Amino acid sequence: MQLEKSDGTNLLQLAAGVFAGERDPWANAANAAALVFETLPELNWAGFYFLRGGELVVGPFQGRVACVRIPIGTGVCGTAAIRRETVIVPDVHAFPGHIPCDAASNAEIVVPLVAGGRLIGVLDLDSPRFERFGAADATLLEALAARLVAACDWRLAGIDGF
Ligand code: SME
Repeated sequence: MQLEKSDGTNLLQLAAGVFAGERDPWANAANAAALVFETLPELNWAGFYFLRGGELVVGPFQGRVACVRIPIGTGVCGTAAIRRETVIVPDVHAFPGHIPCDAASNAEIVVPLVAGGRLIGVLDLDSPRFERFGAADATLLEALAARLVAACDWRLAGIDGF
């Protein structure tokens, strides 16, 4: 599927189409990562970490090879996970405990995935542009995360608590 870069206005519509009739978490998360990476500009990494064995373990993503395991409460991902709220970092080099995976990353946004009050994992986007992410990105990505959570049968994924 060839997609055009955009401000993401069509991302949710595309996601709804991709998730339709499919409940497999890995399939839907993989396509969600690809959709985000293809439709949003100025990204160098987009993907998921899932809560498995008490820590965040890398899942489907687009971008360079990433660190595999992140303890809850550590880094931007672990911070969003423990707070269960979106974390926007304008300059990752100024974020205490930031875990560098790709040296090109300068800004980051992490959105938690929560189902029925239980943490599933996080959606993580990196950008080479400082201050790349703002409130509109948070709103869009939180909506995408909610759609993904609703679209999948998480019992199939080996995620803690499911
Ligand atoms: N920078 C993240 C680690 C994951 S990579 O960016 C893909 C963090 O600090 O949690």
